[in-house]
Amino acid sequence: MSALNFNDWDDAPVRTTPPARPAPAQAGTAAPEPAAAPGPTLAPVNAADKRIVGGKTDINQLAPFKYPWAWEFFLKANRNHWTPLEISMAQDVHDYHHKLNGAERHVFENVLAYLTTSDILAMRNIGLAVMEKMSAPELQIYQARQVYEEALHTWTYQHCIESIGLDQQEIYNRYRVVPAIHGKIALANRRLERVMRPDFDLADRDNLHEFALSYFFFAAIFEGCWFYNGFTPIFALQRRGLMKGAAEQLQYIMRDEVLHCAFGIRVVRELLKEENLSLDPAALKALWDEAEAAESAYAAYILRDPILGYNADLHTQQFRFMANRRARQVGLAEPFPGAENVLPWLDEQANLRKEKNFFETRVTEYQTGGALAWE
Ligand SMILES: [Fe+2]
Ligand SMILES: [Fe+2]
Repeated sequence: MSALNFNDWDDAPVRTTPPARPAPAQAGTAAPEPAAAPGPTLAPVNAADKRIVGGKTDINQLAPFKYPWAWEFFLKANRNHWTPLEISMAQDVHDYHHKLNGAERHVFENVLAYLTTSDILAMRNIGLAVMEKMSAPELQIYQARQVYEEALHTWTYQHCIESIGLDQQEIYNRYRVVPAIHGKIALANRRLERVMRPDFDLADRDNLHEFALSYFFFAAIFEGCWFYNGFTPIFALQRRGLMKGAAEQLQYIMRDEVLHCAFGIRVVRELLKEENLSLDPAALKALWDEAEAAESAYAAYILRDPILGYNADLHTQQFRFMANRRARQVGLAEPFPGAENVLPWLDEQANLRKEKNFFETRVTEYQTGGALAWE
């Protein structure tokens, strides 16, 4: 394969068009007066007028900020940058073929199958359903970064799938043929489709509530619980020295997801306050119950045989523990009172620390875990 030529888009000969000349004045007609330069006709943007949704201020003017925390999220996100090519997968290829047992391979493949479909969905959700409804540019700019990061995550899974030599036709179709994987995707798709209807008008209070609930679902449950639980079985392998390349890839992804979840929860909180809206307790309970049922079915499938140090029951209990944490962050009642932190090593595992650069060409340190709060 030839190297990418960065001048490829520049190959076409440049056609220069001379500027149009004014037509000569006809005999007997006066030449038109040159148009006067337009004066300032627009009022300056007042930051206080910005709103999360439905604002009328100029979306193309970044500052002054009404939501400076959103800009901070953008800056922070740009400190966690990597590509999957920078992490060696060589040992993983050997581990997968020679060290993992059948149950461990089953877990690994299905986790990848779930995650890769999920991240495409996450990208579409933010890019198509959420971002266009935001009416403050500092919110949109972080979400633009988030769209890119979801695409990067999809690339990462694809890189893992390719490196290990998994059958792509089979692995990418798994969510369509395995009901337990499909259940989670279908639930998320339903939420996404409801807020993407062409007639969905946020001026309607019911629609506004539906949107807040959906964004809460994506940030707090889909990203804040399901992704975490998605990564955990592979971290359990990593703790035993297996599939360490894939696990390190997931640690980078998880750091992005920490921010996605925290940002989304912040937006939902601000939206509820700004719109004097509260999430309906019955709708929330239905959401949590639905999410827990889908996660339990998923756990029962991917961990139908337990692996050393990890099983379906731990997976579901950890979901409940994370669900309580997310609910507290939005100021809501815990959906699963008494749920315990059954995987105390997870927070530690998730906070990746790089003591040194692992590529000679790399001149800057990756952001240390301590600067990205786990909560
Ligand atoms: Fe992602
Ligand atoms: Fe995400």
